[in-house]
Amino acid sequence: MVSKIIGTGSCPGDRVVANGDLAQIVETSDEWIYPRTGIKNRHLNTLSGTSGMAASAAKLACENGGIDPKELDLILLATSTPEYCFPNGACQVQEELGAVNAAAFDLSAACSGFIFALQTANSFIVSGSFKTILVIGADDLSKIIDWNDRKTCVLFGDGAGAAVVRASEEGVFSGIMKSDGSKGPVLSCLARSGGNFLTGKTPKMGYLSMDGQEVFKFAVKKVPECIEELLSGQGIRKEEIRYYILHQANERIIEAAARRLKEPMEKFPMNIREYGNTSAATVPILLDELNREGKLIRGDKLVLAGFGAGLTWGAAVLEW
Ligand code: UT7
Repeated sequence: MVSKIIGTGSCPGDRVVANGDLAQIVETSDEWIYPRTGIKNRHLNTLSGTSGMAASAAKLACENGGIDPKELDLILLATSTPEYCFPNGACQVQEELGAVNAAAFDLSAACSGFIFALQTANSFIVSGSFKTILVIGADDLSKIIDWNDRKTCVLFGDGAGAAVVRASEEGVFSGIMKSDGSKGPVLSCLARSGGNFLTGKTPKMGYLSMDGQEVFKFAVKKVPECIEELLSGQGIRKEEIRYYILHQANERIIEAAARRLKEPMEKFPMNIREYGNTSAATVPILLDELNREGKLIRGDKLVLAGFGAGLTWGAAVLEW
């Protein structure tokens, strides 16, 4: 058995915020942001939390895949921004969908979350544990951004993307996941911590902080390396790949990856201009857009790749 994606859906944040809007709150400009990142707009979420966006994307994915949510065996939500420590966001999605037969849990791997969750889903499918799995990447990053920090606040947006994955007799699915915990401080956000009656301290919470140049260097090296390793390990030639759907963190990172892979930019679709970096949601939102635009043909081979806090990175190759 192998995983096949049978439906996709997405839900960006409800409010469009342009670079010029951010110039009203921090010292920045479209002239600085756009050439360095490729970002013009981001969509921020003002209506629902992470689970609300995740559930909207998930409903669309089920409709697109032609399945009743009751057919779902498992819901995996990749997120770094759940509304609650518990219940997990996946259980909230389960309730919204009426997916009464599914087990549901969250998975945390920051911007690599969707790639890690998809591979986790595939392992359950290959083992025969589950047949139909909903994989979601959703983040409400605007709630952990320091809106006074121009180095980070211009980069991120909110959103969710989802894919229904089903066991299939035929197809291709293989993936690689990697982590380097020694680089944790490069991109981090403190959760509620440090306070109980013994420490006498009040709990602390943090904002996202990032060494942008370190993340940039890591991404342009590790993402192409990991894709090369994946494809050569599977005996798949780069010419066979229809699209490389990479984490949308910076247009220049994607261009550098394409150069290193010696592949043409036409194979690297992008939507960062409109949404910015939505963390675990970038890859499934882009996948959903390509699907709905009719750009994916059954039999196409796709590479999906992500990188982010942890540090974590990974890639998967699959047949559409
Ligand atoms: O999901 C993974 C998440 N993260 C990433 O992928 C981030 C990867 N890194 C990057 O994309 C880039 O490093 C950034 C876009 C974040 C930054 O670009 P950079 O060319 O590395 O800029 P920098 O941080 O070196 O800053 C250059 C200058 C600094 O001024 P000084 O110290 O040279 O006077 C910054 O203070 O630009 C200034 N600056 C800004 N100016 C206007 C930083 N942010 C802004 C801003 N507007 N928003």
